[in-house]
Amino acid sequence: MNLNELHRIATKLVADHRGILAADESTSTIEKRFKSIGVENTEEHRRAYRDMLFSTPGAAKFISGVIMYDETIRQKHKDGTSFAEGQTRNDVIPGIKVDKGVKELPGSPQEKITEGLDGLRERLAEYHKLGARFAKWRAVIDIGPGIPTDYCIRANAQALARYAALCQVENIVPIVEPEVLMDGDHDLARCFEVTSRTLHVVFEELANHRVALEGMLLKPNMVISGKKCPKQASVEEVARETVKVLKRHVPAAVPGVVFLSGGQSDVVATEHLQAMNAMGPMPWKLSFSYGRALQEAALKAWAGKESNVAAGQKAFHHRSKCNSAACAATYSAQTEKAA
Ligand code: 13P
Repeated sequence: MNLNELHRIATKLVADHRGILAADESTSTIEKRFKSIGVENTEEHRRAYRDMLFSTPGAAKFISGVIMYDETIRQKHKDGTSFAEGQTRNDVIPGIKVDKGVKELPGSPQEKITEGLDGLRERLAEYHKLGARFAKWRAVIDIGPGIPTDYCIRANAQALARYAALCQVENIVPIVEPEVLMDGDHDLARCFEVTSRTLHVVFEELANHRVALEGMLLKPNMVISGKKCPKQASVEEVARETVKVLKRHVPAAVPGVVFLSGGQSDVVATEHLQAMNAMGPMPWKLSFSYGRALQEAALKAWAGKESNVAAGQKAFHHRSKCNSAACAATYSAQTEKAA
């Protein structure tokens, strides 16, 4: 393990008001996204869509890294350059999703456990050869009557920590993603409580597994009202409670926190990030690693047509720019309008 190099990469991913594009949708998840625009889920359509996003002129000013899926990191631009090579040339760091998705948690079938530890060491070594310098593993914690159980939180935290430790051995920066879902009718206080329990156990297991905090990033949910909660918290409340829970649990040695968007609308996800950075200074950089909130407008504008590539790129450039401004705490309604 080269801790200096891990620290350099982790720090670079959150420096200069840049953030991460999560473009690591599995083949079945991208199917859902393509369905919404009436595009058939073929390998060439997936390649063309990612090609559009990754070759957006000027986006590297706002985007420090891209998380890809196994198929994607093996794909190429039309000129034959691999996506990872194109990114590296452009000062964007290639990343890779290495978990194998969620399965029913044995003994608590309403809950989920993330799989993918078997053979991970070897897969990481291969991804490093393909150009990846950071990775992602997502654990899912659902809120409902009687859940999450401590068992579910602990089992997922242990898997996250095993993954993170293996990444560091292979000189890949782990992004540790324990996502507390926003589905359900729970309120902000309940999301706070579950996020707090989850982060507590995650950092305990990271310490047990001797993960170097200087060489990792945390990708958490924000503390937010459940989607079906009748009383939706304001942007200020979400920002205040999210910063509060992070300050309680995330050691200052972690270089950055890169949020997931988790189903928030794109503009709201930017507003939340802006409100948090406006409360700074923080012990860590607060940035983004959004999937849907960076891609939604671009996906619609593209709609699967070659003739719409420029429009899709324009939408992606705008969202990236707005989120970068939120990292700098300079985002406003004017930034949003100045497309
Ligand atoms: P969303 O921002 O769409 O939640 O995706 C981020 C991600 O990578 C989830 O694992």
